[in-house]
Amino acid sequence: MTETDSDTPVMRGNRRVLCHVDEIGEAGKGFVLQRIFKDKPDAKMPIFIVPGDEDGALYCYMNVCPHQGISLEFKPDTFLDVDRKLIQCSTHWAMFRKDDGYCVKGPCVGKSLTQLPVMIDDDGMVLFGA
Ligand code: FES
Repeated sequence: MTETDSDTPVMRGNRRVLCHVDEIGEAGKGFVLQRIFKDKPDAKMPIFIVPGDEDGALYCYMNVCPHQGISLEFKPDTFLDVDRKLIQCSTHWAMFRKDDGYCVKGPCVGKSLTQLPVMIDDDGMVLFGA
């Protein structure tokens, strides 16, 4: 998991630079963002990114399982199942679709992960923000 805890986050326009796209593994990558909220500078925001099935697709979610409100992964940067088809929660094995975060199996079927905006810049940098 990457801690983005520099005093001044690297920005491009109003989007935060997270990493290069090549740093996102086949099972995803986690981040803990800081200095996201102006009124709560010490608050931390855990997120993760997983690659989609289409070339170049990435999906970003809050790293909070809708079942019990805890983070999804046991192993760092491991958010997808062994087939790399679904996002999994390692606590009670809820399974979520990659493209919209909808839970299709497990104790929170019908609930969804909170999706967040992310994009890839022209030079392959992954940017967080709308
Ligand atoms: S905490 Fe994720 S399935 Fe229970």
